[in-house]
Amino acid sequence: MNKAKRQTIIAGNWKMNKTPSETTALIGEMKELVKDADCGVVLCVPFVDIAAAIEASKGTNIKIGAENVHFKESGAYTGEVSANMLKECGVEYVVVGHSERRQYFGETDQTVNLRTLAALKGGLKPIVCVGETLEQRELGYTETLLKYQTKMALTNVTAEELKNVVIAYEPVWAIGTGVTATADQADEGNGFVREAIAEVYGKDVAETVTIQYGGSMNPKNADELLSKVNVDGGLIGGASLKAEDFSVIVKAANK
Ligand code: 13P
Repeated sequence: MNKAKRQTIIAGNWKMNKTPSETTALIGEMKELVKDADCGVVLCVPFVDIAAAIEASKGTNIKIGAENVHFKESGAYTGEVSANMLKECGVEYVVVGHSERRQYFGETDQTVNLRTLAALKGGLKPIVCVGETLEQRELGYTETLLKYQTKMALTNVTAEELKNVVIAYEPVWAIGTGVTATADQADEGNGFVREAIAEVYGKDVAETVTIQYGGSMNPKNADELLSKVNVDGGLIGGASLKAEDFSVIVKAANK
């Protein structure tokens, strides 16, 4: 295991929070606090906030991401947004397959794969989310499920394209619940994801992939979670909506 081989990335996922004017204010506050980060700093924001986020983050080390992308380039898909639209706006990253989209919007392993491929084709870096429910964990399916979701999401992704993919292990039971996985559980889950990548692309490639942990990561637990060998950053929900909290997590990644 060699953590030095991969980039640590702390990414916020704002979910359905913040208006454009609130976006400008929050990034204005954050940019000073995170400007000395050694790690990648990304904020994934609602579509309507992208223009404000790009403007507010100009000349800073903050990269902007979207929270979803459609798998077609264009066409009659009312309400959807394509990778080239996002790219032209200045977006670099996009969250794909978040468990909330799987749970509430009918996202499947197949559509997660199609969105991942579309993001890569359009020049975006997908942050692909995988994770088990509490029921699946209690039934003992965590390893099988994480490996399956990872391999499904990466179907037809080449080793070259994989360089632009980030995976986020987000146990569904830890999202927005205040219940965090223990550092060992996070490390183990991320390890299963890395093993799945190794099974397809080989161990050397797997060692270079950034695998984040997400689920109630906060200023108090970030240090311990990020110290684990397989945890290469975080995907942060609630704590990314407060400049101070988010910056403490970014600083924890710098250590
Ligand atoms: P919370 O940090 O609010 O638990 O959300 C995690 C998450 O879903 C990030 O994508």
